[in-house]
Amino acid sequence: MKVTVVGAGNVGATCADVIAHKELCNELVVVDIKENFAEGKCLDMWQTAPINMYDTRLTGSTNDYSKTANSDVVVITSGLPRKPGMSRDDLISTNAGIVRSVTENIIKHSPNCIIIVVSNPLDVMTYCAYLTAKVDSKRVFGMAGILDTARYRAFLATELNVSPKDIQAVLMGGHGDTMVPLPRYTTVGGIPVTELIAEDKLNAIVQRTKTGGGEIVNLLGTSAWYAPGAAAAQMVEAIVRDQRRVFPVCAWLDGEYGQKDVFLGVPVILGKNGIEKIIELQLNGEEKKLLDDSSVAVKEVMSVLDKMNTETV
Ligand code: NAI
Ligand code: 2OP
Repeated sequence: MKVTVVGAGNVGATCADVIAHKELCNELVVVDIKENFAEGKCLDMWQTAPINMYDTRLTGSTNDYSKTANSDVVVITSGLPRKPGMSRDDLISTNAGIVRSVTENIIKHSPNCIIIVVSNPLDVMTYCAYLTAKVDSKRVFGMAGILDTARYRAFLATELNVSPKDIQAVLMGGHGDTMVPLPRYTTVGGIPVTELIAEDKLNAIVQRTKTGGGEIVNLLGTSAWYAPGAAAAQMVEAIVRDQRRVFPVCAWLDGEYGQKDVFLGVPVILGKNGIEKIIELQLNGEEKKLLDDSSVAVKEVMSVLDKMNTETV
């Protein structure tokens, strides 16, 4: 197995470190545009191999995509992160240019790869990679739901003073303030969460989850990386080990949930072919309305990208 991570910054390096640590592939290539940056990160990570006891071979590259040739999975993390006061959508024009050129290079050298997009604004950058790659939508999707769900699960674990391992949840919609956590599909060791927590506390946790990315930006002055890097690596693991894990993933919808031609977070089965199946939940009226609102918000930003693409043709 060969995996490439594009972007050796905070998220990319963390993701690569987890992939190597878990020996998810024999060959791991990390690419960055900044001279010697990926090479330096990979050398440092490789020097943890005798301590962390792994064999995965790491190669760093400054923009030389020939080294990525025949990758099975590629994670795109290249792009600007948010600073305080910025929304994810503020990043669109810069990051679209980056994601487009990276995807062109990736597909040229690895025409059969599966692409996981992490760069923000996530739903629209996934759309950008999909338009550029021109491959089946089952092979191009985005990471956000695992991160957003992990935040929700972590907040619940703290509030209930239980292991985060026992909290299962589904979260749908776009990676932004319109994301849709679903308390009706949240359980603690199989017990519906609503039996264990007061409604006002649960609502506060849902709200905190929606702004969870911004909370970290305000604390650190840049966006999160440990949880995003680990979340992207968990998607890589599901694919390279054909685990058929059930995760919320930013996927291209073609009629599912009454939505068409939009990338939106939905539960899927993730395996060796990428998205093996989109799972359709029976949402109630209120949940469906929240998902529809989220879709409208994502489509608005997608149309900004469409306009930019038309202007540059
Ligand atoms: P960072 O600034 O630490 O790293 C980004 C890296 O991309 C830099 O090393 C930069 O040199 C590189 N880069 C820029 N243009 C490039 C190009 N054309 N080719 C190759 N490399 C290039 O940023 P960080 O924190 O790693 O975040 C990366 C992206 O991920 C941001 O857009 C951020 O908003 C997004 N993000 C998304 C999350 C999600 O849930 N989907 C969560 C956290 C971050
Ligand atoms: C996050 O949610 C900023 O998308 C990034 O941490």
